[in-house]
Amino acid sequence: ASEYSLRPRWLSEYIGQQKIKEELKIYIEAAKMRKEPLDHVLLYGPPGLGKTTLATVISNEMGVGIKITSGPAIEKSGDLAAILTNLQENDILFIDEIHRLNRSVEEILYPAMEDFELDIVIGKGPSARSIRLSLPRFTLIGATTRAALMTSPLRDRFGVINRLDYYSVEELKEIIKRSANILNIGIDEDAALEIAKRSRGTPRIANRLLKRVRDFAQVRGNGYIDFKTSKEALDVLGVDEMGLEYIDRKILVSIIEKFGGGPVGIDAIAASIGEDGDTIEDVYEPYLLQIGFLNRTPRGRVVTKLAYDYLKYPYIEQGRIEG
Ligand code: ADE
Repeated sequence: ASEYSLRPRWLSEYIGQQKIKEELKIYIEAAKMRKEPLDHVLLYGPPGLGKTTLATVISNEMGVGIKITSGPAIEKSGDLAAILTNLQENDILFIDEIHRLNRSVEEILYPAMEDFELDIVIGKGPSARSIRLSLPRFTLIGATTRAALMTSPLRDRFGVINRLDYYSVEELKEIIKRSANILNIGIDEDAALEIAKRSRGTPRIANRLLKRVRDFAQVRGNGYIDFKTSKEALDVLGVDEMGLEYIDRKILVSIIEKFGGGPVGIDAIAASIGEDGDTIEDVYEPYLLQIGFLNRTPRGRVVTKLAYDYLKYPYIEQGRIEG
């Protein structure tokens, strides 16, 4: 079974994000009663929490088609015009990384979202004229890891705005058991729990770790995942008790050793470890903030005492400047 088949297709199969599911259920039912498209939905939050999955679940629940694209993939306004004019009535257009749309494309989106109209300019210079085409009514589902980077005119045009949160260990354990079942993997409760604990709140990581642990179980044993196998495999994979991987520890250790624990800016951290600053900010930092290993201050990132203790570095209380 592929990655795709592990994705839930219906709200009833979707584990976690309880509040969002309850809300969406109402809006979906109401829109279906009115035979209207669902209002535009913005989903934001760290990567791997199920934004794309949720969009496909919504399309199944609404009984409509879905076209999936991304901000960087739509280069010109003509690309977006082609997508919009090919939609069926009530279809969903899913745009991942919507904060990366360029401005001229974004401006086409405003009247499309608001009035289902497409403004296109024909010709150049003094003879250029603008015409309006009406579009099928559709639902835009936008996803972003960086809601703060979106322009407010775009953000303001979404009727439903939801932030996806990290999953609890219990929820991840349920997801791992569900995936193991689909993949025909035998797994003990305590092994599922161990993988869940090291999945940093993220279903995508939980499913990836499950597959890697299965590889170990297969080669070193009979394929069944018990607690001992899961622990050994995760240790070999370099995923520690908190779910931190090599790069997470490198970020923290570099701030401690090279920048006295901070505060230090993202760019300086990025340069010191040879990783892209945006990737640090989008992928690694959110979880380190979530578990209280990192703090953001106006002067930069600071490693907390919790992280010093965890990494077994001596913590020296910093002199704080008051006022
Ligand atoms: N697989 C990945 N994410 C999931 C979720 N939220 N619920 C159930 N299965 C999943």
